[in-house]
Amino acid sequence: MLSSSSSSSSHFVYSLTLFLSLFLLFLFAPQILPLRKQQKIQQSPIFLQDELDDLHLFQEATLASTRGFSKTSHLGTTNPKPKIAFLFLTNSDLVFAPLWQRFFQGNDNLFNVYVHADPSYKLSTPQWSIKANFIPAKRTERASPTLISAARRLLANAIIDDPFNLYFALVSQHCIPLHSFNYIYTSLLGNPNAASKAFLTQPSHKSYIEILSKDPHLHNRYVARGEGVMLPEISFDQFRVGSQFFVLAKRHALLVLKERKLWRKFKIPCIDLDSCYPEEHYFPTFLSMEDPKGCSHYTLTRVNWTGSVDGHPLTYHAPEVSPALLHTLRKSNSTYSFFFARKFSPDCLKSLMAIADDVIFRD
Ligand SMILES: *[C@@H]1O[C@H](CO)[C@@H](O)[C@H](O)[C@H]1NC(C)=O
Ligand SMILES: *[C@@H]1O[C@H](CO)[C@@H](O)[C@H](O)[C@H]1NC(C)=O
Repeated sequence: MLSSSSSSSSHFVYSLTLFLSLFLLFLFAPQILPLRKQQKIQQSPIFLQDELDDLHLFQEATLASTRGFSKTSHLGTTNPKPKIAFLFLTNSDLVFAPLWQRFFQGNDNLFNVYVHADPSYKLSTPQWSIKANFIPAKRTERASPTLISAARRLLANAIIDDPFNLYFALVSQHCIPLHSFNYIYTSLLGNPNAASKAFLTQPSHKSYIEILSKDPHLHNRYVARGEGVMLPEISFDQFRVGSQFFVLAKRHALLVLKERKLWRKFKIPCIDLDSCYPEEHYFPTFLSMEDPKGCSHYTLTRVNWTGSVDGHPLTYHAPEVSPALLHTLRKSNSTYSFFFARKFSPDCLKSLMAIADDVIFRD
């Protein structure tokens, strides 16, 4: 009797303790779980409405490309040339606009400018006198697939806007040109006066995008969304890394806009935010699957990762800007010397403008 009663009372105590522990765990679990997991939950997902808007936009671009040049054939009389679309992806002021403006000067009808500016940042009126198309933009965030969406939106808008855009150069507000417009144009499309022929040879245009299969962090990046999550669409053997900034030929830009399969995986939020750089993987992985021979595998945008901080490359400041630095930054081990460089801090503008004509735009 006694023992039975003691046993039942201890049962009661156990049950109560268990109930209390579970209750407390439930109450405080969010605080006990590691902070990173919390951030993961709060990391902004790709919202369904944004996804649908993009889908519609990308389909429109694909459709526009099938109409070819007929819609604008009336331009034939003015002998239109192939153009380079410069795609500015930014979440702050375009402080180097005056430098880019000088870069573009005198090259009307050979380029277009499109800007995707994160709407959560209020841009102060850019000192930008050339015609820039500010495309409908959405919020962008580091360590999230929103940067992929923004780049694809830029490509789509540029394709829809002007069928003569044959190359698409993605840059950021921290990028500067390292050569004259003419040098870059001629390297990509040939002499502008003979360049109309390039319309016909467009299928052979190469894309300049970094595609690397060897990187010490590659495996961490591959499993950033969880073990096996990328399968079966993307095996580790197929997973690539490369610079976020590229110069794509139109045929590849169109492939990227039609792509759905890899996107289904890349849009999944990361669990490991330290290894989450979707924009450095999506484009290189996809293009290396689709057309490895049509891509350079190296980038035309110089960046200095030596001494990088928190995933950001070295940022140059005003005192470092010199003709010697600019000449060094151009040097590459590839077919072409570098076209662009990043990252430059806003205080560099004055020093860069001072050497623009004599150094930067002198090839
Ligand atoms: C790259 O950064 C490293 C580390 O700060 C520096 O020593 C080196 O001079 C830089 N290279 C160039 C070309 O600026
Ligand atoms: C070119 O190759 C050399 C030797 O491998 C290397 O030290 C240098 O950093 C490379 N330059 C660039 C710009 O990648």
